[in-house]
Amino acid sequence: MATVRIPDEDRTLTQEHEIRSYLSGVGITYEHWTPAHVLPDGASAQEVLAAYAPEIERLKAAGGYVAADVIDVAPDTPGLDTMLNRFSTEHWHDEDEVRFIVAGRGLFHIHPREGNVLSVTVEAGDLLRVPRGTWHWFDLCREKRIRAIRLFQDPSGWTPHYTESGTDRHYDPVCFGPSYIAPGGAIS
Ligand SMILES: [Fe+2]
Repeated sequence: MATVRIPDEDRTLTQEHEIRSYLSGVGITYEHWTPAHVLPDGASAQEVLAAYAPEIERLKAAGGYVAADVIDVAPDTPGLDTMLNRFSTEHWHDEDEVRFIVAGRGLFHIHPREGNVLSVTVEAGDLLRVPRGTWHWFDLCREKRIRAIRLFQDPSGWTPHYTESGTDRHYDPVCFGPSYIAPGGAIS
């Protein structure tokens, strides 16, 4: 389950209904799919897409998406830092950013035109749709691992446009989530 954090209000949302409601209010679609399809750790991208074919087809029909793929990022992914740096500063796209998390986790920051910046820590089973034009940025969590299904209306529209506002520098890329509270109480 995702965790939403609004740092400027010192507010954290952990319940699915309040997460859906709050995100919907800023134009973001959130779903948590349970039960997620069980896949072996070594499942290929094709196996992931096959397992989630019904859900992918539903999203394609609803959002006009024409293509789906699987992105797989791990600490040893070549060029990882360069890849992450492209998306960890505030930007927008000319098409929706749709991600269903299969494994690992990640941190989206959303900057509504009106209202406070919020972060969404996503993990396996979470679907997030960030509409085209939404200001946002993305970081991995400490373990630098995520596997996600991506949906595209037009892959060429996915180039980031940077706002160069510097807003992202005011927010620490800290992942939240009740399942990640370490024995000593520290949140990773
Ligand atoms: Fe993006």
